[in-house]
Amino acid sequence: MRKKIAVFASGNGSNLQAIIDYMAKKDIGADIDMVFSDNIRSMALKRAGNHGIKTFCKSPKESANRQEYDKGIVMILKEQKIDLVVLAGYMLILGREIIKEYPDRIINIHPAILPCFKGMHSIRDAYSKGVKVTGVTVHFVDEDMDNGPIIAQVPVFVDQSDTLDSLEEKIHSVEHKLYPRVVEQYCAGLIKVKGSKVFIKDSQI
Ligand code: GRF
Repeated sequence: MRKKIAVFASGNGSNLQAIIDYMAKKDIGADIDMVFSDNIRSMALKRAGNHGIKTFCKSPKESANRQEYDKGIVMILKEQKIDLVVLAGYMLILGREIIKEYPDRIINIHPAILPCFKGMHSIRDAYSKGVKVTGVTVHFVDEDMDNGPIIAQVPVFVDQSDTLDSLEEKIHSVEHKLYPRVVEQYCAGLIKVKGSKVFIKDSQI
């Protein structure tokens, strides 16, 4: 049975695009069935539209509270029979409602080597701190921000000549290679979680 993927994105959606492009070149036994955004102006929604992918957009402001908002999202995911939720620049913290319904089935990409530089400004924070190595992490999502079991990490070296912009570019380019491959391995059933550790069979990540 083909796996059904939902991508959640709030902004530019370049990671969504990377996954779409990868899947257009290679059948990974899965399809992006829907894109969800909290932000109607998100470029990710346009990108999804360009590829004929179903989109859903709802701002938390449209719900009485976050619990209602998250319940609404769970309803959509269930209706669409989603197997894997891929967070790609989704700026809201996922509520318990969603996490509890999809244990070990929600992944996120973070532009730093976790557990360092959690939060929304990781690239800037790492650059300002003057680290020599930063990178990208893909991890399962649990109830704490940027926290769950780590699936893959790729280092990015910070050169003395790097500006914040050039570092951002380097990190995004690593993300765009890494995330589609993690999604592929997940859909092939090669990624397993045991406690806080993740094991990947025949890892080609
Ligand atoms: C990426 O840097 C990702 O690691 C972070 O948010 C950014 C999203 O970028 N979680 P985009 O919307 O995919 O271009």
